Formats: sequence, structure tokens, C-alpha cells
Amino acid sequence: MGRFEYIPTSFLSILFIFCFCPMVLSLLSQNQTKTMINLSKNLPPPVPWNASYPPCSWMGVDCDPTNSSIVGISLIRYSLSASDFLPLVCKIQTLEHFDVSNNRLSSVPDGFITECGKIKGLKKLNFSGNMLGGDLPSFHGFDALESLDMSFNNLEGSIGIQLDGLVSLKSLNLTSNNFGGSIPTKLGNSTVLEHLVLSVNQFGGKIPDELLSYENLTEVDFRANLLSGSIPSNIGKLSNLESLVLSSNNLTGEIPASLFNLTKLSRFEANQNNFIGPVPPGITNHLTSLDLSFNNLSGPIPEDLLSPSQLQAVDLSNNMLNGSVPTNFSPNLFRLRFGSNHLSGNIPPGAFAAVPNLTYLELDNNDLTGTIPAELESCRKLALLNLAQNHLTGVLPPLLGNLTNLQVLKLQMNKLNGAIPIEIGQLHKLSILNLSWNSLGGSIPSEITNLSSLNFLNLQSNNLSGSIPTSIENLKFLIELQLGENQLSGVIPSMPWNLQASLNLSSNHLSGNIPSSFGTLGSLEVLDLSNNKLSGPIPKELTGMSSLTQLLLANNALLSGEIPKFSQHVEVVYSGTGLINNTSPDNPIANRPNTVSKKGISVHVTILIAIVAASFVFGIVIQLVVSRKNCWQPQFIQSNLLTPNAIHKSRIHFGKAMEAVADTSNVTLKTRFSTYYTAIMPSGSIYFIKKLDCSNKILPLGSHDKFGKELEVFAKLNNSNVMTPLAYVLSIDTAYILYEYISNGSLYDVLHGSMLDWGSRYSIAVGVAQGLSFLHGFASSPILLLDLSSKSIMLKSLKEPQVGDVELYHVINPLKSTGNFSEVVGSVGYIPPEYAYTMTVTIAGNVYSFGVILLELLTGEPPVTDGKELVKWVLDHSTNPQYILDFNVSRSSQEVRSQMLAILKIALVCVSTSPKARPNMNTVLQMLLNVG
Ligand SMILES: *[C@@H]1O[C@H](CO)[C@@H](O)[C@H](O)[C@H]1NC(C)=O
Ligand SMILES: *[C@@H]1O[C@H](CO)[C@@H](O)[C@H](O)[C@H]1NC(C)=O
Ligand SMILES: *[C@@H]1O[C@H](CO)[C@@H](O)[C@H](O)[C@H]1NC(C)=O
Ligand SMILES: *[C@@H]1O[C@H](CO)[C@@H](O)[C@H](O)[C@H]1NC(C)=O
Ligand SMILES: *[C@@H]1O[C@H](CO)[C@@H](O)[C@H](O)[C@H]1NC(C)=O
Ligand SMILES: *[C@@H]1O[C@H](CO)[C@@H](O)[C@H](O)[C@H]1NC(C)=O
Repeated sequence: MGRFEYIPTSFLSILFIFCFCPMVLSLLSQNQTKTMINLSKNLPPPVPWNASYPPCSWMGVDCDPTNSSIVGISLIRYSLSASDFLPLVCKIQTLEHFDVSNNRLSSVPDGFITECGKIKGLKKLNFSGNMLGGDLPSFHGFDALESLDMSFNNLEGSIGIQLDGLVSLKSLNLTSNNFGGSIPTKLGNSTVLEHLVLSVNQFGGKIPDELLSYENLTEVDFRANLLSGSIPSNIGKLSNLESLVLSSNNLTGEIPASLFNLTKLSRFEANQNNFIGPVPPGITNHLTSLDLSFNNLSGPIPEDLLSPSQLQAVDLSNNMLNGSVPTNFSPNLFRLRFGSNHLSGNIPPGAFAAVPNLTYLELDNNDLTGTIPAELESCRKLALLNLAQNHLTGVLPPLLGNLTNLQVLKLQMNKLNGAIPIEIGQLHKLSILNLSWNSLGGSIPSEITNLSSLNFLNLQSNNLSGSIPTSIENLKFLIELQLGENQLSGVIPSMPWNLQASLNLSSNHLSGNIPSSFGTLGSLEVLDLSNNKLSGPIPKELTGMSSLTQLLLANNALLSGEIPKFSQHVEVVYSGTGLINNTSPDNPIANRPNTVSKKGISVHVTILIAIVAASFVFGIVIQLVVSRKNCWQPQFIQSNLLTPNAIHKSRIHFGKAMEAVADTSNVTLKTRFSTYYTAIMPSGSIYFIKKLDCSNKILPLGSHDKFGKELEVFAKLNNSNVMTPLAYVLSIDTAYILYEYISNGSLYDVLHGSMLDWGSRYSIAVGVAQGLSFLHGFASSPILLLDLSSKSIMLKSLKEPQVGDVELYHVINPLKSTGNFSEVVGSVGYIPPEYAYTMTVTIAGNVYSFGVILLELLTGEPPVTDGKELVKWVLDHSTNPQYILDFNVSRSSQEVRSQMLAILKIALVCVSTSPKARPNMNTVLQMLLNVG
């Protein structure tokens, strides 16, 4: 996500109007001026077209160099839903390109096709990213049309001759619709078509031979359709082809040899089909990228496959290839994947001497023998090395410690022996380290605890002895730790607090007591200590492990005492111990089927870590300089304490507060309308100071008293999930509001900057719902949120959210603001569709924004990615909910998955297109609690 997206566009457009407009001379014909003014009247806000300026200066309007005629109109991402304005556009007879992508249009009126079809010079039409349904319209006229983009809509039916009249068509993009039938072959003048993108539809049947007459094709993309049969053997006729993508179909047969005559073909992807036969020699002679993974290819890999020097990426994983790994590698090789085949022989050491760009290397799940070549150390860019599930022997070369860019190292299920080299501690970027199921000996080097980015550490089933390094606690980001089935001895040290999925120390020789510090592992689900020599009682503190589902203690003969009372959802296995279960018979602990869903809202303060990356703060500072240079002469008018709390009263020092906001290095956070500064008071205590964005002229002259009164009301709100103001300072044109300091920052930063487990995400969802339900609950005048987004929700702890920016709606009157309405009402991605025409902030609108926050929590994705709203992405994939969920979280257990799916349903109701279909926040809260 760019960090500059929230620069208030109103500010930019003001700048634009005042600085550039006078230079635009109006030479446009009266006809076109009139048409454009008429058009502007037919376009609802937020289209920022102002009839008092010449049309050539309007945003999205392109004129020829002399400004005498209009050549282009772009109306992108305005939530336009009514199509009636479209035929008006066709009155501009000089139009060359027209782009209405990323709106909500549901149809193209006939009038548009008939009228625009007559425009002699119209070259480009872009309707992508709308809600067009039904059949593809028949295009008549459009003699000059070169590019037609109707991708990302809901068009359906088969394509016959609708496009055949487009004699100049060079580029056709229909990706991501629901078209069926066979691949269209009547696409205008067969000598001109260059780009044919039909991916992600339901086109079936064979790849038609007729297509081969389009000899100027450079790009063919049929990915993710239902195509069957084989690739036409004379595909070599398409001699201009540069990119051929056939992935995810049901194609069969052999890879045709005529492909190698395509000297311009650089990318060939045919993965996830049923291709058979060999990988033909010579196939990579001209390619930079080849993907034939997940097919049924057999035979050996041609010896010269990897040697052509332009080659960058080869993926042949998941086939039935045998023979050995080729020894000559292209110096430009970046990605090599041969996993899950039947390759045998050694990993050729010489191959790695001169492949400096190699970043991904996967040879896992083959029959490779011999040792891990130390020569790999010269591949300094390597980020992923996966040699797991082979028959590799020998030691782990210490030189691998030079691969300091490694993020994933998987060597499990081989026959490696010797000790884990201490050099492994140099791999500072490592997040996954799996050495399990080998014969590694010696002790666990304490250097391994230098790997500060580690999320998964698996050393299970080796011959490791000695004790567990006490510094293991330093692995702050560790989520799962597997040390079972070794010879480890000594006592169990404290564990990293963030452990989530499981901690497995079973089948070792560990002795001493179970550490009471385990009680702080609030996110851990499975704790396996079975088959050790532990003694003493189960510390009472363990009942505080709020996420625990399984506590496995069997075969620790010296464990004794009474089992403390765990929550009923915890399964405790204690056979082969001296533990006594005195829990009542109707609440048996051991071996209960673990089916009941667990976890209420466990709200407890966890150890906090600040995760605001330095680069992020830097980004904010730049933004401030760019967008806010001119509103920086604070002249203070009044200041007031709001809080009744005597401690805050004694600590807050207005002078210090204003010193802090004068220094941009104190900027900690930025929401859509405000900037948060950190201020250290003379007492040493820290507060947040929020400065309201001044570009919206929030404080008209004379309104200061009224503003003070408003804030007094908000200061009295008493809800643990709502941020309440403690004090304020007003200047001529803006306001500074003081709050308690919240060290975790915003939900957005935490969710998109680190790993947040499901327990926390669920608590956050419930907490935000509680806050909103409270704010909406004032029957006479509900408090509405102007900008509800994950950036305006602060995290007191990783489970305690507070809804911020609560006062904005009462301070910034969107209708009177200098910006236009939808720029004022919230952040892109959270704005409900109806705001475009209702022009009021509503309860149902807030529910929509809350639904988007739920989707963020479920998917781990930001509200907008590459211009696509999360809501639309989720709706596009709603038939495959498992794909939507954040896999890092959903994989932790079946129970988590089913909770996530239940909450996905709630989120989808919240983001219903019709405001009436959305439940109120109270109902949403109840629904969320029922899932818990
Ligand atoms: C202006 O519009 C009128 C009526 O719509 C049309 O008859 C006339 O030819 C147009 N003039 C130009 C210069 O396009
Ligand atoms: C559709 O495909 C064309 C040709 O490859 C490409 O230029 C265009 O960006 C694509 N449109 C979208 C929305 O991706
Ligand atoms: C097809 O294109 C060729 C080359 O541009 C042109 O000579 C021919 O007239 C076109 N055919 C039609 C039907 O427009
Ligand atoms: C086909 O492509 C070639 C090479 O780019 C070009 O010279 C030729 O004019 C194209 N043919 C048509 C009909 O556009
Ligand atoms: C794929 O093709 C095979 C025959 O090659 C056929 O048996 C199978 O049903 C097809 N699968 C689908 C999903 O169309
Ligand atoms: C490749 O091209 C050569 C000459 O251009 C031709 O003789 C040969 O038959 C072609 N090979 C295939 C498989 O089409």
C-alpha cells in the first residue's frame, strides 16, 4: 500500500484549480463546450467537474495540443452507477479514448453503441471493473477501435460475431467475467489482433485452429478456463507470440515442438493441466520464463534446459520427471522449482558457482542423494532454499551462514548428521527454519536464538542433546516451536510470549517443574510436554492460558498433585503421571472430545511491542511536508481540560504539548483526517496529541466556543472501546486534542505489519462492535463515525481496540466542506456505495465500514489493493471462502477456521449493497458473540 494515498485530494484539487487553470485558454468549439457542460450536469458527485472552468482543465478530460477539441474522457473510480450519461459522451465527435473503468455501471445503453459507433477516430474503450451483466453487446461501426477492455465484469453467454465488426481491434481484454461457450474466433480483421486476454472465464472446448490466422498475436492469455484437448500442433505459425498463458485448464497431449520456433516467445505458462510426455529439448531456447508445474510430464529433464542465458524462471514441480538435475545454469536464473518429481543423483555443486541472482531454489520431495553443496553459499540472493524430503546425507555446511538473505530454509526429512553449525545464527532474515526428521546431533546452538525474525522453528525428531538455550525467550516473533523427539535434558526455560499454534517439547529427557511462566502464553493452543521426566504440580498459572485447547502431559511419572481447574474447553491428557483429577464428574477433563467452541472475549493486557517501522514514520513525515506546509502558524486561542481525572489533570502541561506538535519527529500516526503526535509531559508520562487536518477548514471563525462544547460531550462518553478526549487546545484554524497514549498504534499498522493471531482478531472485532453499538445507541442522536477504518482504530493491547476519531462528524460538516462529499466521508475502500447519491452519513453506512474492517481481520488484506476494493475481491471469490481467509491464521485449527467462516458470513451481511439489508450494530455484536 502506498503511504501517500491519504493526502487530502481536496487540497490537491484546490491547488490544481488555482495554479493551473488560468493557463488553459478556452478555444473549444461552442458545441463541445455545451456538450461537456450538459454532461457534467448529468454526472453525480464526486465527479469534480466545475462548469465555471473551461472543460479542457477538468480532471480526466484530455484535449488536443491546441485545446480546440476533446480527445479523451476518463471517469475512473467515481462509483458511477447510472448509465444514462453514456450516450451523451458520443456527441464528442473528436473522441479518441473513453475510460469509465472501476465504477458500478451495470449496463451499456444501446444508444451508446449506436452513437459512439459512428465516431470515426474512437480508438480505446475501457469498461473494466464495473458490474456489467448479460451478454456482450454487438459492436457496429467503431471502425477505428483498437482497444476494448471489458475485463472484471459479470458478462456472460457465448461470443459469436459481436466483435467481428471491429476491423481495427488490436487488444481485447475480457478477463474475469463469466463467458462460456468456445473461444471466440471472429475478432475483426485477422491480421491486426495483437492482445487476446480471455482468462478467468468458463470458455470450454478446444483451442480453435482458426485462431492461428491471427498471425500478429503477441499475447494470448487463456488462464483459468475449462479448455480441453491439446495445443494445436502448428501453434508455431503465431510467429509474433511473446506471451502464451494456458494455465489452469484441462489441456492434454504433449507440449508441441513447434513452440520452439517462436523466437519472440519469452513467457510460456501451461501449469495445472494434464500435459503428458517429455519436456521437449530446446523449449527454453528463447524463453525467459517457463512454467509447466502440476502436469503429468515424464522422462528426464533435458541436459541443456537451464543453460540459455536469457532464462530467468523455470517451474517443473509436481510432475513425474526422473533423471538428474541439469548442471549448467543460466547466469540470470532467478527462480528454479523442481520439487515433487522423481529426480535422483547429486545436487550438482558446480552449477551454483555463477548464478548470482538465484533467489528461489526448490528441489524438495525427490530422490536426491549426496551432500548439500557448500557452493550454494555463492548464491547470496537466495531467499528460499527447500531441499526437504530427499535422501541427502552429510553435515549442514557452515558456509550456508553466508546466505544472509535467506527467509525460508527447509531441509527436513533427509539424513543429515553432525551438529547444527553456529553460523546459522547469521541468517537474520530467516522466518522459517525446518531441520526436523534428520539425524542432527550435539546441542541446540544458542546462536539460533539470534534469529530475531523467526516465526517457525522445527527441530523435531533428531538426536539433539543438552539443554534448551534459555535465550530462546528472545525469539519474540516465534509462533510455533517443535523440539519433540530429541534427547534434550535439563529444565524448561521461559518461552517466547507470542507462541500460538503449538509448543512441542515431548519425548525428551526434560526434568524439573513445569514453569509457571507458561501462564503468560495467552495465545498458545497446544502445549505438549508428554514423555519427559517433569516433576511437581501443574502450576495454577497455566489456567490463565486463555487460548489453550490441549495440554498433553502423559508419561511424566513424577508429576503430582491436583489438576487445577481449566476452562471446560481444555483437554488435559495425564495418563502415566501422578496427577489427580478432582474435577466434578459432569465436567471431566481428560480425553473429552474437543468440539465445543472456546474463548469468550478475553481482554487482558499482554506485553506490548511497538511495531511502527521506522520507514513508516519517515513516510508520514514526508507526507506532512508535502501536504501541509502552509497551515503551520499556530496561534492559540483557548485551551481546556476536559477530564475529571485528577491524575491526568496534574500531568497534562499545555506548553509541553504545543512544543511537541511543533516538531514533526513526534508524529506517530496518521489517520484520514488527523495526525497523532507523542508528547512527553514534565512528569515523564506520555500522551497522544491529535491535530485535526486543517485543509478542510474545520474551524470557521467564531465557531470555537461551539467546538469546545462538542468536545465536552465526547469527554463524558464512558466506554472502554471508545477513545475519549482529555483536553484540547484550539488555534485560529485547527484543533489539538489530547488522549491517553496508546503504544500499539492503529489496527491497520498492527494487522498489516505483523502476525496477529485469531484470538486477538476476534477480540478486536467484538471490541469495535461494542464501541460502535455504544455510539449508535443514543436513541435521540446517535454518534456517527465520519471515517471508520482500521487506521482510526487504536489498539490499547493486541486484544483491546478503541474506536478513534469519534468527534469528527460533528466537527467537519461534509456538506459545507471545501472538499467534495465522498472525499470527506471516510477512506477509500470503506465508503458504502450509497454515499455517492444519499450525501449523508448514516448508521447503515457505518455498519458497511465495520464490515470492511471484519474482512480485513479475516483476510489480512488491506482495504484496497492495486485499486481493487477488498469488498469486491471477497465477493468475487465468495464461492470459495477458504481461499479468502488469511491462511496464516486459518490453518491453526479447524475450530479457528469454522469461527472465521461464521464471521465471514456476518461481514458479508454488513457490506450488503442495500443499506436496508445491513443489520444494526447491536445485532452485529450479538451475532459476533454467538460465534465465540
Ligand atoms: C454543432 O451542433 C449542431 C447541432 O447539434 C450541428 O448541426 C453542427 O454541425 C455542429 N457544429 C459543429 C462545428 O460540429
Ligand atoms: C487487459 O489486457 C490488456 C492487454 O494485455 C492490458 O493492457 C490491460 O491493462 C488489461 N486490463 C486490465 C484491467 O488489467
Ligand atoms: C484488414 O487490415 C488490412 C491491413 O491493415 C487492410 O488492408 C484491410 O483492408 C483490412 N480489412 C478490413 C475488412 O478492414
Ligand atoms: C503485423 O505486424 C507486423 C510487424 O509488427 C506489421 O508490420 C504489420 O503491419 C502488422 N499487420 C497488420 C495488418 O497490422
Ligand atoms: C478433463 O479431461 C479429461 C479427459 O482428458 C476428462 O476425463 C475430465 O472429465 C476433464 N475434466 C474436467 C473438469 O473437465
Ligand atoms: C521450425 O522452423 C523451421 C524453419 O523455419 C522448419 O523447417 C521446421 O519445420 C519448424 N519446426 C517446427 C516443429 O515447426
